Amino acid sequence: MTQVHRASDLPFVVDVVAGQSYFWCRCGRSNKQPFCDGSHKGSDFSPLAFVAKKSEKLFFCGCKATLKPPFCDGSHNR
Ligand code: FES
Ligand code: FES
Repeated sequence: MTQVHRASDLPFVVDVVAGQSYFWCRCGRSNKQPFCDGSHKGSDFSPLAFVAKKSEKLFFCGCKATLKPPFCDGSHNR
């Protein structure tokens, strides 16, 4: 597996907690979007680690085409 899978046409809205680590799925194969569930194993992909600076609502990219991972930058509209 070397190609990104478009997991969603829209971002995933997540309430993150300050200080907590999150692992954004880069490959798009995870069943726990937008986060990694290990489904990338055996591929060229690895998750992107992110630590929340504060507790807030964030928009994580679901299409996997963002230029500002792990967040949605509107690229899903292209
Ligand atoms: Fe996609 Fe881990 S399942 S990066
Ligand atoms: Fe990927 Fe918006 S969902 S850029």
